[in-house]
Amino acid sequence: MLTFEWERGAVFPSPLNAWHRHINTGKDPARLVAITNAPLLIDMFRHTDFIFDNDYVFTERFDGRKDYFSATPQAVFPTVPRDRSGKTNERGHHTHSLVNFVPNIWKTRLYPAGQGVDDDDNHLAMARNTMACHVEQFPTGTYERAHRHGPGSTIILLDGSGFSMMWPNELGTTPFKDGKDSQVRLAEWKEGTLLIPPLQWYHQHFNNGKVPARFVKLGGWNNDLYPFTTTLVSDPGRVDIDYPDEDPRVRQIFAERLAAAGGQFKMPESVFKRRSG
Ligand SMILES: [Fe+2]
Repeated sequence: MLTFEWERGAVFPSPLNAWHRHINTGKDPARLVAITNAPLLIDMFRHTDFIFDNDYVFTERFDGRKDYFSATPQAVFPTVPRDRSGKTNERGHHTHSLVNFVPNIWKTRLYPAGQGVDDDDNHLAMARNTMACHVEQFPTGTYERAHRHGPGSTIILLDGSGFSMMWPNELGTTPFKDGKDSQVRLAEWKEGTLLIPPLQWYHQHFNNGKVPARFVKLGGWNNDLYPFTTTLVSDPGRVDIDYPDEDPRVRQIFAERLAAAGGQFKMPESVFKRRSG
């Protein structure tokens, strides 16, 4: 049996089918956010005993070694290229860390990424899980590319203030230009906000606050280290709208809200131009 201590901001997995118990020894109530892929597995096997009364031991997921929940990553793979098609001008990258315990998600080391402008991230591959988990941060006055993907991406805002824009896939990539403004949703957020973009809706995050916006995303299907080879719940690749292709009204809305909040637009003009060659 292993015991380890956690406090506010800790992120860790419950390894697959390993017994676990959380004990609050502090003075205040502890709030725990957890995600699970049980709905998919129940749908797949249609036999709840197999899921909930199953004593199979996944030793390759949890071997009980003393340093299993060490905060030191077993490996870090910086800047794994995200766009493998070579057809877009995305400079997308993700860093992946193999680690089973993050003591303080506010302080986790991040590396240059490519979802926005000067943004950083660190994808956490915990307990060899197939579900994803990552921390991401992007500067004030910037926003990230719109994109859509499979279900269950649970975003918790850790720092900063801003908003997210979301719209159903069926509206296409330029909903304002196409007169469908009324179906575009804006969600304001601040520290502690929990946001789950609906299945395959385009979504895009904007920082009009005074400090870098940082969030942790728990779950969502697929990750680059242990990808599904089927497309059961996830598109083969996520779909992005690159800045040159986005609805021009998107950046206008951001600029307006930014000005209202006393912020400065820091998106370089070059990102809106398609690269030649
Ligand atoms: Fe997303």
